Amino acid sequence: MEKINQNGVTVWFTGLSCAGKTTLSLAVAEELRSLGYTVEVLDSTVVRQDLGKSLGFSKVDRDENIRRIGFLAHLLTRNGVIVLVSAISPYNQVRAEVRKRIGNFMEVYVNAPLEVCEARDKKGLYQLARAGGIKEFTGIDLPYEAPPHPEVECLTDLETVGESKEKVILKMINNGYLKPRDFSHSSAYFLIFKGRRKREEEARRKELIASINIYGNFRQ
Ligand code: ADX
Repeated sequence: MEKINQNGVTVWFTGLSCAGKTTLSLAVAEELRSLGYTVEVLDSTVVRQDLGKSLGFSKVDRDENIRRIGFLAHLLTRNGVIVLVSAISPYNQVRAEVRKRIGNFMEVYVNAPLEVCEARDKKGLYQLARAGGIKEFTGIDLPYEAPPHPEVECLTDLETVGESKEKVILKMINNGYLKPRDFSHSSAYFLIFKGRRKREEEARRKELIASINIYGNFRQ
């Protein structure tokens, strides 16, 4: 497959455990790879087994975990890779820090209510945390700070994975990280043109109103 001359970007998926970050980031990765884009997925659970082996879940350790992932993402992004990071990353300050460092950055808030995340949890970690068996669990005895201005918000209890994926891809296209023509087959492409058509129609309507006003003035 021909190599695409692409812009590097980090798309950072943040949200509670079991909100759908991994599922969504893998779906985006699969679509982009099938089109020839070079994509790396940095899943915090996986990175923790290697670069983050010594880290726990205190605020200090989580911030360190996010800084390490952010550093990796930065190196890859500046070399033209599309990096998809999936991490709870519950604290606004350190997310803002990595955003600033990386530059080409988009934040995706993977949002599902806590009770939905708990119901989805096959590993039973929430249950264990509620029973006091795990300390410092996000959403139970440590906070999750929702991003105030994410580029994309996916409501994973209301949207299908496909719908959430299209939202992310659409924003990546609109922010100039993906080429629209690569997506002419997808509904994201349809949404862009629907948006453009709407804006054009609005402009035509304004023009028409202006010309009627001119005509009205002329007759007076
Ligand atoms: S982060 O805060 O440092 O970004 P991370 O994304 O790595 O958290 O968490 C990965 C996974 O670790 C969670 O999805 C969950 O399954 C598991 N986990 C284990 N202990 C905790 C904890 N105390 N809080 C949150 N998740 C935990």
